[in-house]
Amino acid sequence: MKLFLKLLTLSSLNFAIFAEIYNFPSNFVWGAASASYQIEGAWNVDGRIPSIWDTASHKNNSSVVDGSTGDDAAMSYYYYEKDIQALKDIGFKTYRFSIAWPRVLTKTNQVNQAGIDYYSKLIDRLKEEEIKPMVTMYHWDLPQYLQDLGGWTNPAIVKYFEHYADTLYKHFGDRVKEWITFNEPATFCDGGYSWGWHAPEIRTEKQIGGYLCSHHILLAHGAAYHLYKNKYFADQQGKVGICLNTGYSFPANENVTDEHVDRAMHFGLGRYANPIYSVDGDYPRVMREAIDQKSTDEGRRWSRLPHFTTAQVESLHGAADFLALNYYTSSLIQPYSHLGWNPADSDSEIHSFHDDNWKRSSSSWLVSVPEGLYHLLLWIKDNYNNPLVYITENGWSDLPMTIEDDGRVEYLREHLAAMSRAITDGCRVETYTVWSLTDNFEWMRGYTERFGIYAINFTDPERKRIPKNSVDLMKQVVRDNFVEVEKD
Ligand SMILES: *[C@@H]1O[C@H](CO)[C@@H](O)[C@H](O)[C@H]1NC(C)=O
Ligand SMILES: *[C@@H]1O[C@H](CO)[C@@H](O)[C@H](O)[C@H]1NC(C)=O
Ligand SMILES: *[C@@H]1O[C@H](CO)[C@@H](O)[C@H](O)[C@H]1NC(C)=O
Ligand SMILES: *[C@@H]1O[C@H](CO)[C@@H](O)[C@H](O)[C@H]1NC(C)=O
Repeated sequence: MKLFLKLLTLSSLNFAIFAEIYNFPSNFVWGAASASYQIEGAWNVDGRIPSIWDTASHKNNSSVVDGSTGDDAAMSYYYYEKDIQALKDIGFKTYRFSIAWPRVLTKTNQVNQAGIDYYSKLIDRLKEEEIKPMVTMYHWDLPQYLQDLGGWTNPAIVKYFEHYADTLYKHFGDRVKEWITFNEPATFCDGGYSWGWHAPEIRTEKQIGGYLCSHHILLAHGAAYHLYKNKYFADQQGKVGICLNTGYSFPANENVTDEHVDRAMHFGLGRYANPIYSVDGDYPRVMREAIDQKSTDEGRRWSRLPHFTTAQVESLHGAADFLALNYYTSSLIQPYSHLGWNPADSDSEIHSFHDDNWKRSSSSWLVSVPEGLYHLLLWIKDNYNNPLVYITENGWSDLPMTIEDDGRVEYLREHLAAMSRAITDGCRVETYTVWSLTDNFEWMRGYTERFGIYAINFTDPERKRIPKNSVDLMKQVVRDNFVEVEKD
């Protein structure tokens, strides 16, 4: 993993430039990621029941910017062989995909055999091609009937999820050895239950819904983890983790301290990671104290951040075999106190924003900050006792049918280099799955922002997977196990 300089000669040009080479460990695993609702289509066939994303995208005047839906998407329900071929062509050895809860269980919690058969076929075909299946159990497509009961704000959801996880271990655990319970609760809990800009589009005052959601997500994760250890691990020998997303928080100026940075990280990542991965367990102390105090000040007899029982704290503590990490972007931060703002609208009292110099993608929230990935991995190593990390999403968006995706190629080179540096500095990163294998339904952005390394023309009935330039980059990285970054 030593860093050295290589003279890179451009064949057609009579000059040379320097490139830096960043190596990866020989057992490093490369792959790509996707999610059921974003690619499968076939929303109402073979017994699939409606999910909260069907509801959100089907309603009149929906919040999806282009009025589109995931009804057909990349049609992976029918064209999964095209996805497998796309993975094979690059040489990827793992595929992170998600199982749609509404496809495998009915409204009365019975197994839907057609749904089981679909994923079984997909898993078998991946294994025939020596591509390891890494399965996300929940990538946002909650059955609508469960939302009608309150969804993730109803404590009963924990038992429903445990039963769903049991069904997956039972039917697929002989072949699936890497399980991710939840994808990005930080996005869907506040998005779905605090601010209302994600399905099920519920707004609550002062994040009450979002905090209830994250609390039940953690309990559901713990239940699924222990179920696996107690009932399946002896036979199946797999790993169970949770997928968390965060950026890194950089001080906006010399007055922003390390303590502010830690506070921002604890309110973001720590809300989910601390109960599982920290030395002490439970919610981060800064968060606990701040929200308890504010709740009292607001005249409540209860804290907006629910409390775990002692038994729950102990049961969640250490309840993961790895941390799945999604990294896209980072922020500058500044405490509200420096800005003279009224802190009422954010419990962390920290303002985040982007540096104008950071390169912009086609998504307003996504700017390129490779240094953020490096610092984030080190922060995780230092705060959570150096856990095993899989980077399960990292990627860049552009406009439809951008085959010459030079922005993505540059983003990926720089982020892979940052990941290599973190590994050199002792972080235990063992897998990287790029987001995403193909263009897909980008939630409320519909088909206007594209993350695939393969392009898809969504009016083409064949949904051909068309390689972008980044496919060539990933082929080279998989083959050589290093990445080159041009040096200024
Ligand atoms: C949307 O509006 C049309 C026409 O007003 C109506 O027939 C249809 O039922 C509505 N659909 C939904 C999902 O509300
Ligand atoms: C459609 O949604 C937009 C944005 O949410 C809103 O401003 C508009 O009034 C809505 N139109 C109708 C007909 O409901
Ligand atoms: C940092 O704090 C000092 C002392 O309050 C102040 O004079 C200075 O303007 C601050 N710097 C920035 C960039 O805010
Ligand atoms: C997308 O596919 C449609 C239907 O096959 C075709 O008419 C159109 O030209 C394609 N667009 C692009 C950009 O390839």
